[in-house]
Amino acid sequence: MCHVSNILIRLVLVALCGAALLVACKAPETAPTPHPTDTPVPDNGSHVSSPDGRIQVTFVLEGGVPYYAVSHSGEDVIKPSKLGFIFKDAEPLNQNLTVVESKLDSLDETWTQPWGEVEEIRNHYNELRVSLEETTEAHRKMTVVFRVYDDGLGFRYELPEQDNLSDFQIMDEETEFVLAGNHQAWWVPAYRDNRYEYLHTQSPVSFLSEDLQAVHTPLTMETADGLFLSIHEANLTDYASMTLAGSDNNTLLCDLVPWSDGVKVKASTPHQTPWRTIQIAENAGDLITSYLILNLNEPNKLEDVSWVKPGKYVGIWWGMHIDKYTWSSGAKHGATTENAKRYIDFAAKYGFPGVLVEGWNLGWDGDWTKYGKRFDFTTPYEDFAIEELSAYAAAKGVALVGHHETGAAVVNYEQQLEDAFAFYRDLGINTVKTGYVGWGQGIKRRNEKGNLVGLEWHHGQYMVRHYRKVVETAARYQIMLDVHEPIKDTGIRRTYPNMMTREGARGQEYNAWDVEGGNPPEHTTILPFTRMLAGPFDFTPGIFDLFFEEYRPNNRVNTTLAKQLALYVVIYSPLHMAADLPENYEGHPAFQFIVDVPVDWQDTKVLHAEIGDCVTIARQDRNSEDWYIGSITDERERTLETPLTFLEAGKEYVAEIYADAADADWESNPSSIDIYEALVDSNTVLNLRLTPGGGQAIRIRPATGGEANRLPRISE
Ligand code: NOJ
Ligand code: CA
Repeated sequence: MCHVSNILIRLVLVALCGAALLVACKAPETAPTPHPTDTPVPDNGSHVSSPDGRIQVTFVLEGGVPYYAVSHSGEDVIKPSKLGFIFKDAEPLNQNLTVVESKLDSLDETWTQPWGEVEEIRNHYNELRVSLEETTEAHRKMTVVFRVYDDGLGFRYELPEQDNLSDFQIMDEETEFVLAGNHQAWWVPAYRDNRYEYLHTQSPVSFLSEDLQAVHTPLTMETADGLFLSIHEANLTDYASMTLAGSDNNTLLCDLVPWSDGVKVKASTPHQTPWRTIQIAENAGDLITSYLILNLNEPNKLEDVSWVKPGKYVGIWWGMHIDKYTWSSGAKHGATTENAKRYIDFAAKYGFPGVLVEGWNLGWDGDWTKYGKRFDFTTPYEDFAIEELSAYAAAKGVALVGHHETGAAVVNYEQQLEDAFAFYRDLGINTVKTGYVGWGQGIKRRNEKGNLVGLEWHHGQYMVRHYRKVVETAARYQIMLDVHEPIKDTGIRRTYPNMMTREGARGQEYNAWDVEGGNPPEHTTILPFTRMLAGPFDFTPGIFDLFFEEYRPNNRVNTTLAKQLALYVVIYSPLHMAADLPENYEGHPAFQFIVDVPVDWQDTKVLHAEIGDCVTIARQDRNSEDWYIGSITDERERTLETPLTFLEAGKEYVAEIYADAADADWESNPSSIDIYEALVDSNTVLNLRLTPGGGQAIRIRPATGGEANRLPRISE
């Protein structure tokens, strides 16, 4: 106790003196211009603030033990929290340390996303780099780097090359997050069979310690003072992924997903950990427009990415989930040449660049979830003429989207990896969806002789390496990726812009299955503040036949039809699926919205943001002057006042509105939708009425002049 309060006093002192050490170099925008400073700092602590001065980070050594703390507007966010490592067969690196050097630096640059939710991202931070060395005989070295932004911070450990630390095995990363209060948290459990695919629980963080619960990141929290925090990581490259374990005193502990032998990370120096990130916002919507995770990743390594093209796709997919088709061969086989041609024709007619076909290759017969090693990634079923279909699609300006379901048989997949991507590349297939269906710890690791060595988690270092290897291999073949049952996103799309989108949460498919009645209405009002802070999500929206009674009368989608449309805007993904069967779209007036909605944006604005209640997002098309609005609610009806101040002043626009009809509600009348047009401008305030479980989708395009006589005008 005394120990902790001592540290507190020290931190306050350091914070007060720190003002003098603060660098606030504001470099001109666009050019990366670092400003190194060699300001000496006392070896007991150092301090750095965000460019706007609101977030302060303090590093301190207390009796040789490293701690960090974070405050926002003078209030504690993270109280003194330990840093360090426990190794296998070596002394821990967490005590007897001294500061060798402490350096401040800063950067202010703007970079362009080749595709994304905004075109330009400002990367503006102040950095503190603390180099530590043991005072013991070993003199091992470790550097802790903090980067502090206006929207939060990241820190990581660097272990430089050195005599007494070369090959090492981490048994524990001791990073703590001592929260300043018992905040409300939205979380999914870690170390479970279904990986990340659980509904979020909302509870105070203390629940995590009572229940000895480890949870996945991003972990989003709201403090009693209405501050929003989200803990995650950036640039997970060759390390175990971090889960957070509850502990006493509102403390979360970094809990790395282990290898099957219990070791957490196997590495050699020089090595650096992923960034541990804490996003901080006064409004939940500002978490959504924080690009801190991307800023903490390396710039694009692929140079020319003109072959990377965001786009929408349809596919032989939902039909399998509702039992209209099978993945396996036989009478209901979905992946037939004839069926694929029908989907290609449909895609060409409505301008969708991609057609996904699952169940096209050998390996689906029998229990593929058990015998993933039977998957053959270059041999189609006999009734699927892949060469003919690729040519047929190309002639219509469409491409097949490839599919590699591995059944979590990773060794089998890696053995075929080059051939599998070369096969697709030669056919002109530029996008591949991968999948790793299997229990959370069901990845069979084998030695060179093919003998089983251990069962690995989907999210440990073994799989982090695998997922990265696939991204790099796909890039060499100029192929874009959509990963299901993935490793969580930590922003590597910045470095590898072919890593487009992924699953990693309960998507639409849960509505087709007999699992807890599908996704409840509030599910998609939580995702934008939690899973989606990590990056794009291939949720597969757009189901119009919400009951699919013909196929699975006991299952259904728990939204209105208008909400399905709104999800295209609310959920960001550079590859978005029009997931329903073509026959449910053909002739339906609401389908026009899915045809129109872009997947690549110039700008993104969050207009309403209440976690678990409602979200409204407006996005501007990257390739036109159009804006799109998506607004969704949970099971409650709402009317949301929405000023259109983001529109260009003095300009007239036509709003194409897809709204829940007055008699609509998700339970009994979900398909009732009003579609109409109206004139709007930047003074217009829309009242978005959302029915229980409902939503609203709007396209706003510049008026061409002829509409004034025929359309109503919505003003204030
Ligand atoms: C689970 C994926 O999420 C789904 O999209 C896919 O259809 C099946 N696995 C089969 O690969
Ligand atoms: Ca899945």
